Amino acid sequence: MSYAIVGFGKIGRALAHAFARKNIDVTVASRQPAEALAPEARAIGPRVVARSLQDALKADRIILAVPFGEHREVAKALPSWEGKTVIDATNAFGVPPEELDGLLSSAYVAKAFAGAKLVKGFNHLGAAILATDPIVEGGHRVVFLSSDDEDAIAPVADLAKQLGFAPVKLGKFDEGGALVHARGRTWGQLIFQNLFKKQQ
Ligand SMILES: NC(=O)c1ccc[n+]([C@@H]2O[C@H](COP(=O)([O-])OP(=O)(O)OC[C@H]3O[C@@H](n4cnc5c(N)ncnc54)[C@H](OP(=O)(O)O)[C@@H]3O)[C@@H](O)[C@H]2O)c1
Repeated sequence: MSYAIVGFGKIGRALAHAFARKNIDVTVASRQPAEALAPEARAIGPRVVARSLQDALKADRIILAVPFGEHREVAKALPSWEGKTVIDATNAFGVPPEELDGLLSSAYVAKAFAGAKLVKGFNHLGAAILATDPIVEGGHRVVFLSSDDEDAIAPVADLAKQLGFAPVKLGKFDEGGALVHARGRTWGQLIFQNLFKKQQ
């Protein structure tokens, strides 16, 4: 299974550190040429490799770590998303709900990536926390996963575990997933930042 992170800003880099920590290969890309990202990628770890956006999109599982409004541009970069899993780490914080056709943001993003399996995850932690080792005092930092395609969650939960996180499956976007969605300037209904799940 191959992985790419699209967007190499605060969240993309934080996740690249998580892959590097566990020696899992990952490619990283943005709108910049690969050479521009390569020094920073190399500095994070030898298995973090900068690629062009087109090359990175060859991965089976693609983490979306771009500003919310840019998801459409990324979606347009492939003629078909069939067979891909997109892990949506974006938040539509500050986007008026009426601009999202009444949908939660990941359901809206999923429309742009027609054919892909779309799982929301890795979006509730601030980048500075996400960049740190998720194993804290013997416990594993939680990540919340939701999808309207519930079969798609398990493989992403496996990835989260490989990265050292404790995945919590929330179900569909408009069920448990609603808890980890920004709506307008409101953020979910719970404060998750400091929750940990003890190792089983
Ligand atoms: N920062 C946080 O603490 C935090 C926490 C949770 C979730 N999030 C969410 O994560 C997403 C990323 O946030 P961030 O703070 O990492 O943003 P950021 O630091 O501004 O980084 C955004 C990255 O996306 C790239 N990018 C922008 N448009 C692109 C496109 N069309 N194609 C490919 N790459 C593109 C940018 O690179 P170029 O401009 O060079 O292309 C940059 O590398 C946002 O949706 C945000 O809501 C952020």
